[in-house]
Amino acid sequence: MEKTIKGSNRPDRSPGDSYEEIIAGDVVPAPDFYAEGPTPDVGTEAIAASRYYDPAFLQQELDHVFSRVWQWACREEDIPESGDHVVFDLGGYSWIIVRTEDGGVKALSNACPHRGRQIVEEDGNQSRFRCPYHGLQWELDGSLRHNPFGWDMPQWDECGANLPEAKVAFWGGFVFINMDPDAPPLEEVLSPIPEHFERYDLAGRYKAAHVIKKIRANWKATCEAFMESHHVVGTHPQALSMTGDLNTQYDIWSDYVGRQFTAQGVQSPNIDRELSNEEILGITAFNQHNADPDSVGALPEGMSARAFSAYSSRQMLEAATGHDFSEAGDAEMIDSLLYHVFPNLAFWAGMTQNIVYRFRPNGLDPESALMDILILRPCPKDGPRPDPVPIRYLDFDEPVMLAAGEIGEALAEVYDQDVENLPWVQKGLHNLPAGVAFTSYMEARLRRHHQMLDQFIGES
Ligand code: FES
Ligand SMILES: [Fe+2]
Repeated sequence: MEKTIKGSNRPDRSPGDSYEEIIAGDVVPAPDFYAEGPTPDVGTEAIAASRYYDPAFLQQELDHVFSRVWQWACREEDIPESGDHVVFDLGGYSWIIVRTEDGGVKALSNACPHRGRQIVEEDGNQSRFRCPYHGLQWELDGSLRHNPFGWDMPQWDECGANLPEAKVAFWGGFVFINMDPDAPPLEEVLSPIPEHFERYDLAGRYKAAHVIKKIRANWKATCEAFMESHHVVGTHPQALSMTGDLNTQYDIWSDYVGRQFTAQGVQSPNIDRELSNEEILGITAFNQHNADPDSVGALPEGMSARAFSAYSSRQMLEAATGHDFSEAGDAEMIDSLLYHVFPNLAFWAGMTQNIVYRFRPNGLDPESALMDILILRPCPKDGPRPDPVPIRYLDFDEPVMLAAGEIGEALAEVYDQDVENLPWVQKGLHNLPAGVAFTSYMEARLRRHHQMLDQFIGES
């Protein structure tokens, strides 16, 4: 059947070529699943701004949403040895993610069943857990090891003081946990991501960057800053010459999963003059590889900036890793390919590097958030797997540029531009009685996100 290409000739899409039209011209084609996916009509009604600052709403989110959804808590590579553990905090919740003696992974409640003291304060390695308050002790699997005041606790039978567990599952090298014993399986929630990401082997990649940035804005406002690409014209003007921002493709695959595909190496429809391929190539080279635009060689005869950029990315990745990327589509080499998982996780597809986000409330404060930025890179074909980098914690006023060594200067600048907006968004939300007005197509996933929050809260 002949394929209908959507986009430029549709009144509900941006002027300019659609993403499908752009990738249809690629030298090495993208996989079939890059074609436009489902775009259900989710309405256009305004969203109450108080959802972004009301402490009672955050408490509802914690009680009825975050307590029932799958969350990645760490990478498996973060806890390779018996006793290695990570503290995973989410709102008021805290969990110990630990490698047990049998090589498995457990998620244990990080609150002492006696009088509640947090048992483990930071990541590390221990052969057992011990509450610093009155000295209860547990084995790595959460079973009670020693109770110094057992004679005075007749209400606890033998295992009454075992640490409660959350469900644990694995995908892509990540350890996911879920506090709800009746939660649907992780694979079901992530679908179709495991299938689409088979080509990218996230489990086989190593953690080359991990930043946790404190941001003065609600977790949803922060997450939503990374759920659409049309803020490039206002926020990242340096990228307009190489980014198909307005012709981004937005798909809603399921209640949980949506995605946005943004072409790189093409000019934005927001630019009203036609750029030369050389102009596009120069800015693409800087943003993709931190290369000096003047140092980029001349384009081969008849080759577009997009095709050459994908070609040179492929060459560089092959040289760096020793792997063969000749079958990797141009889109897989250079485009922004971002999948979101309700309510707060995101994974970049693609060959070169996979950025991963996690957006959490900062404790119980509805007006600040923690944003994790991870970068996964392919391991070299020969040689040992690189160790995962330690986490770099950035306070409210510390720029992401401090992590430029791990994530690259161009990307760090982009994040700092995003972060710069957010306290002003948060302030403005207090002054918006008509509510937040999402666009119909480009921000449909943001609206769907709120509808899902309401669904979870309503069900409870
Ligand atoms: S609070 Fe932990 S032993 Fe008392
Ligand atoms: Fe941005």
